[in-house]
Amino acid sequence: MAGGRILVTGGAGFIGSHTVDLLVARGYDVRVLDSLEPPVHPADARGRPPAYLPDVEFLGGSVLNRDLLRHALEGVDAVFHFAAYQDYLTDFSRFFSVNAAGTALLYELIVNERLPIRKVVVASSQIVYGEGRHRCPRDGVQYPGQRLESQLARQDWEVHCSVCQTPTEPGWTDESVVNPHNSYAIAKRAQEEIAIKLGQRYGIPSVALRYSIVQGPRQSFRNAYSGALRSFAVRALAGRPPLVYEDGAQLRDYVSVHDIARANVLVLEDPRADYRVFNVGGARAISVRQLARLVIEASGNDLEPEVPGLYRVGDMRHILSDVASLRALGWEPTRGQAEIVREYVAWAREQPDLRDTYSEAAARMRAMGVLRESVAVGANGSANRGS
Ligand SMILES: NC(=O)c1ccc[n+]([C@@H]2O[C@H](COP(=O)([O-])OP(=O)(O)OC[C@H]3O[C@@H](n4cnc5c(N)ncnc54)[C@H](O)[C@@H]3O)[C@@H](O)[C@H]2O)c1
Repeated sequence: MAGGRILVTGGAGFIGSHTVDLLVARGYDVRVLDSLEPPVHPADARGRPPAYLPDVEFLGGSVLNRDLLRHALEGVDAVFHFAAYQDYLTDFSRFFSVNAAGTALLYELIVNERLPIRKVVVASSQIVYGEGRHRCPRDGVQYPGQRLESQLARQDWEVHCSVCQTPTEPGWTDESVVNPHNSYAIAKRAQEEIAIKLGQRYGIPSVALRYSIVQGPRQSFRNAYSGALRSFAVRALAGRPPLVYEDGAQLRDYVSVHDIARANVLVLEDPRADYRVFNVGGARAISVRQLARLVIEASGNDLEPEVPGLYRVGDMRHILSDVASLRALGWEPTRGQAEIVREYVAWAREQPDLRDTYSEAAARMRAMGVLRESVAVGANGSANRGS
């Protein structure tokens, strides 16, 4: 489809707002439904959309509010569903109520009110793969479970073969096998199933996009879930060394928010995407330590990344998404990692609310038992504790 009115839930957020920009530039009428959730949105902005959101129709409130969602769907041709709960907290039920039940409510209203919605695009995540596709040189391809806490505590970082226990090699994970490990991932997986299966059942063309870690301007500094680039940049700009977890050799395929917005609009407009799930990633592997170096370079400060042996329980070791399916529709990531970092750091530098929140976030994650210290066990059996 091309042209028409689009509802963007979570449209005041990071990915949502960039998608809104592109939709407006392409001539769509856009309506945003967003509850401006803290801590992503500052408390003093409650009720008022952020200044970066263009002049589009804005409805303040939750996707869980049936009457409001029904009103938001009036006269709409297509929906981007970005509203989501993302955190490390253990309020498991909230992940399912916002991310899964919220999506179910969307389809419930479309079906029961016989709304002429021509496309729904939902925002899923690479996290549904867990550790993703690995290969053991001896025992072949496998999709491992979570790394054991006991191995991480002794700085044994790599994923091990489930048969012979030797370290495996990470590969590029395509869309075929999922293995969600936490409540956010399980809820996102449920969201995909709701969208694709109910979409097929009721003839509502639907697409689920599994984004890799998305990077770019407007990502809230208050979002504890927003990843390494934010954390490295706020520290480097404050003249403090980026703090790298594990040994920094973890591989990721970070992707620019601008490429994400292009992918979103592509699957909206291309009927070949209907009822399918696509990876959307950066298509290049980079280690977390390399990312830290790029951030330091962009900050202009003379720093070295710190690698104190801390780790987060539940983090994936390496995760890389194969984007061949979306490439076949003509999409390609266009921004290299250094360019993404330079754009982000230049933006972050200008933000009035920029401050190094690392210590607070770390204290919170420690209290929850997410962030922990490892102990290096030397050849002679001696132990060196991570700081
Ligand atoms: N940022 C990433 O790296 C990434 C990676 C994979 C998937 N995703 C998914 O992409 C989507 C957008 O993520 P983002 O990074 O832009 O996050 P974000 O927090 O910047 O934006 C989400 C927006 O949704 C709003 N929201 C939250 N709960 C709501 C509710 N109940 N009703 C209405 N609005 C609500 C928030 O106020 C916020 O403006 C999410 O679904 C997320 O799970 C993001």
